[in-house]
Amino acid sequence: MSILITGGAGFIGSNFVLDWLDQTSESIINVDKFTYAGNVENLSALQGNPKHILIRGSIEDKALIDRLINQHSPRAIINFAAESHVDRSIHSPEDFIQTNIVGTFRLLESACSYWNNLHDSEKSKFRFLHISTDEIYGSLGKYDPPFVETNRAEPNSPYSASKASSDHLVRAWHHTYGMPVITTNCSNNYGPYQFPEKLIPLTIVNALSGKPLPIYGDGQQVRDWLFVKDHCTALVKVLEFGRIGETYNIGGWNEKANIEIVNTICNILDELHPASDGHSYKEQIIFVADRPGHDRRYAINAQKIESELNWKPKETFDSGILKTIKWYLDNPVWIQRTQSGDYRKWLNKQYGNSL
Ligand code: NAD
Ligand code: TYD
Repeated sequence: MSILITGGAGFIGSNFVLDWLDQTSESIINVDKFTYAGNVENLSALQGNPKHILIRGSIEDKALIDRLINQHSPRAIINFAAESHVDRSIHSPEDFIQTNIVGTFRLLESACSYWNNLHDSEKSKFRFLHISTDEIYGSLGKYDPPFVETNRAEPNSPYSASKASSDHLVRAWHHTYGMPVITTNCSNNYGPYQFPEKLIPLTIVNALSGKPLPIYGDGQQVRDWLFVKDHCTALVKVLEFGRIGETYNIGGWNEKANIEIVNTICNILDELHPASDGHSYKEQIIFVADRPGHDRRYAINAQKIESELNWKPKETFDSGILKTIKWYLDNPVWIQRTQSGDYRKWLNKQYGNSL
């Protein structure tokens, strides 16, 4: 038996693959386009593992996905592949429309025709799990209740609009064609292997290299933060026990303002890895112009997944951020290669300069 996942060389996908192959004997077919966010070095522990089949390709390439699905007959497809960074979506939204919307559409088309041709017993077991974000719900006021699954989609950035669109497509393929889909909407993840463009890894990496720590606007924007390994355990639960056609919110019950996150990281680094000249990393904080359309607050009510599927996060923010900072401190070569671009050299060797 096998599952097919997309985007499994990115941050959450690679954590999922590593945990999955650590805990089960079921193979993974991992299709990744290897954009700047895909890093084969996240998966280096799996080199030579016959249960991990890694293919460079796009979810927009229906012929490729059709071929892979027919060759491997997966019992499930999990769609992690996406353009995922809000700031990039503001400057170049086109890639977000292509991958997040058109790509999800093509993947659904492939999955649907495969599923339609399965025998009844396999058909009833098949699942299409779509990984989405809490950002589709839009922005909350300070005293609003956290997002529940029945909230309307009110996306505000090109990224969240493209993810909301993909969620709508997934929903429609269930209601129109009967596809056995489930969608998850998760809050901000952090942990090992996150590309240093997002707030937490950027802060750690910039602090260590003596660069400024940029805070957008007043730094009082609030996000809910979930340790990535907790997200992965939630996804396994949803895949096995989630109800078809449903959406599940996944969150950490950890609302924090951005400035608090950055201060916490600086405090921990001051203790674990003091700057050589004795200054506090907090001195590197700078306030910069706000992100256009910046959502003020996200918060997740994760009661449904807790009561239906008995899932709760294991890590508190304090325990998760400590593990994360220690991981980055223990992996300077991974950081250095993402900074220099060397992590992409294997692609040129294997595929030429056709990126
Ligand atoms: P990421 O940017 O780290 O990784 C995305 C991966 O998808 C990369 O490996 C990239 O090469 C690959 N990819 C991009 N376009 C592709 C395409 N057309 N075909 C195949 N592969 C493609 O993202 P992430 O943080 O790991 O997020 C994974 C998923 O989880 C995304 O769908 C994202 O919207 C969702 N999500 C992320 C967070 C978060 O905090 N990071 C929170 C909630 C939901
Ligand atoms: P980010 O990690 O980009 O995730 P998202 O936009 O998907 O929530 O940003 C998290 C928060 O941190 C968001 O409110 C924007 C803010 N931010 C900064 O203040 N400075 C930074 O350098 C970055 C990357 C983000």
